[in-house]
Amino acid sequence: MTSWPAAPLPAEELAGALRPFGESTMLPARAYISPEVYGWEQRHLFAGTWSCVGRVDELPTQYGVVAGDVPVLLTPEGAFANTCRHRAHELLPDGGSSDRNVVVCPYHAWVYTLDGQLRAAPRFPEKPAGHDLVRLPSTTWHGWVFVNATGDAADFTVHVGAMAGLVAPYAPEHLKLAARHDYEVRANWKVIVENYHECYHCPHIHPELCAVSPPTSGDNFDLPGAWVGGAMDLREGVETMSLDGRSAGAFLPGVDRRRVLYLSLLPDLLLSLHPDYVMAHRLRPAAPGRTRVECSWYVQDGVPDASYAEEFWDRTNRQDWTACESVQRGLGSPHFRPGPFAPNEDAVHQWVTMIADAYRGTPPWC
Ligand code: FES
Ligand SMILES: [Fe+2]
Repeated sequence: MTSWPAAPLPAEELAGALRPFGESTMLPARAYISPEVYGWEQRHLFAGTWSCVGRVDELPTQYGVVAGDVPVLLTPEGAFANTCRHRAHELLPDGGSSDRNVVVCPYHAWVYTLDGQLRAAPRFPEKPAGHDLVRLPSTTWHGWVFVNATGDAADFTVHVGAMAGLVAPYAPEHLKLAARHDYEVRANWKVIVENYHECYHCPHIHPELCAVSPPTSGDNFDLPGAWVGGAMDLREGVETMSLDGRSAGAFLPGVDRRRVLYLSLLPDLLLSLHPDYVMAHRLRPAAPGRTRVECSWYVQDGVPDASYAEEFWDRTNRQDWTACESVQRGLGSPHFRPGPFAPNEDAVHQWVTMIADAYRGTPPWC
């Protein structure tokens, strides 16, 4: 960790969010609508920590992706700055892919090997030395690929902390993708995370969810790492989160059959761990008030169809997005003032504290 400057937010605006639970309030409006704060988050919370850039088994040989505000090139040999060492052209555009076994810059055709070494620079009398691609820290965790695009985050194991022990029994790396929905939500990425971490709203907007899981059930964890999360119970006789409470899949061996875990790893991966499937929301902010959400369902091999899970959560997701978009509009009002948390919004408080501390200059894994 070499640098972690404070966010462009006055300290007095963060004071309310940093009070103890019971006295604390939401983050200030600027945290959700300011382009300057958004830019700081992109650099420090996304590029500066560990962004989830996809699933290892879905990646082509070469893949261009943007982690926060830093273009990244993924190859089977690791992650690299997606910035040509000649005159900075991207080697692949965001979302671009290639199956070639060398990387060729589209601008003047410098050629790199998949491990980032400069192999050829056309028309140079000799290959310029010291111009290999910049390697970035990356890791694969339970099938997801993470990149630290600034290269100066704490080790991934410190970042993920005790969340590792909660996810391990579900072994998502052995599950297969059953369905995926892409949503575009007109809300700040943190509004989506904050909504994810409380069920205070459930009785009012989620009738299907309340039918299978009591909204007042469960507890939140308070353990090391840059994450927030908790568990909720399934109602008696209910097997999983589905419209009829039944599972049409296969139960995962060795996991809790009576609870669903909801964990969000900063900055962009929300994992919902069910007795019979794993759902992952990957957040890709596009603007202060706009977030693309990729929602994926993973099941055991041999399960032919996960539509029972997909239908339940697609309906619930859309209920949530409607609420989040309304919150975003409210945050933009000149009359917004940060409000207090209810007793069952303790996980939102934990999250807001982690973000407010990060804004003040404390990295989220500290
Ligand atoms: S910028 Fe890549 S070859 Fe010139
Ligand atoms: Fe919800």
